[in-house]
Amino acid sequence: MDKKLNNNSTSITADQVLEKMNISWSSELESTSRHLYEKVSRVVPEIEWPFFAPYIEAINILKKEMNAAILAHNYQTPEIFHCISDVRGDSLQLAKEASKVESNIILQCGVHFMAETSKLLNMDKMVLIPSLQAGCSLASSITGKNVRKLKEDNPGIPVVTYVNTSAEVKAESDICCTSSNAADIVNSFDSKKIIFIPDEYLALNVAKETKKEIILWKGRCEVHEEFTPEEIREFRINEPGVQVIAHPECSPSVIAESDFSGSTSTMINWVRKNQPEKVLMVTECSMSDNVSIENPNVDFVRPCNLCPHMKQITLENILESLWNKQYEINIDKDTAERALQSVNNMINL
Ligand code: 13P
Ligand code: SF4
Repeated sequence: MDKKLNNNSTSITADQVLEKMNISWSSELESTSRHLYEKVSRVVPEIEWPFFAPYIEAINILKKEMNAAILAHNYQTPEIFHCISDVRGDSLQLAKEASKVESNIILQCGVHFMAETSKLLNMDKMVLIPSLQAGCSLASSITGKNVRKLKEDNPGIPVVTYVNTSAEVKAESDICCTSSNAADIVNSFDSKKIIFIPDEYLALNVAKETKKEIILWKGRCEVHEEFTPEEIREFRINEPGVQVIAHPECSPSVIAESDFSGSTSTMINWVRKNQPEKVLMVTECSMSDNVSIENPNVDFVRPCNLCPHMKQITLENILESLWNKQYEINIDKDTAERALQSVNNMINL
């Protein structure tokens, strides 16, 4: 097997990589990959495994040879989340873990702002994202120029910025936050008013946990804004006894219909701890698959809202990303220094 790393500059496809590495589905691979299949067998049909296993084998070999670490957000599909990743979690956990990674290369299975945050915390490392299409409707709702205008209109008011933003926007901010620490971060300022960007719904949900006046931006998550209170009420009728837990990017009216709200990892921990008989996770659908694997006694009711950006990441483009070293995240030095300050202010708090 030719396991030498790719040194030439021409990009090749995932199937060409498999050919070069001489990896294909075989009875040997079936038996050596059995322990990985067992991890996901509750949610990945056996018939799909011969398609996934060669890519998984190649990615696991390459990442070792290249000394690369794979970070996966809770919304990644189960074969990515459970079979190839080294670090898993919500935005805050991934950012914290990214700052501790010892590998030379970080490959981000998530969206662009997450890869940028990893780069900010590892400017001397190569940070890769497998698809440049993996954006985020919140991140694209606001620019650095928009933030400068907000500051001009509201002089002296601190700017708290959700991590779902570009480095350029973080660079204009005082501090970042994630959905798991947003209220604490807002409350950490003495100022009576806070500019909170860019998620309108998260801002309204945080406003309920603080006495501060929040100046918001009208960005929305295109996945969470789709959930409605009527839908939740209907689920409660059709699924008696169901516990409803929702991400705070949902509207305040959806949160009001829910039993609990928190970041993706906070939701996961709630299920682990409470072991409800039946649960509805009001968030992106892959997460229920990932969590159901570890919680076999919980019945997951699955409303399916997919994040089209998270779903740009596939086993094929992860393999291509490693082999071709594409697509590398670069941030100019001045923006990076100022954005890092905002991220570090959050991590240190
Ligand atoms: P978490 O920080 O809760 O993982 O959220 C990230 C995200 O993009 C949710 O849509
Ligand atoms: Fe962005 Fe929403 Fe997708 Fe999260 S789920 S990455 S907030 S579009």
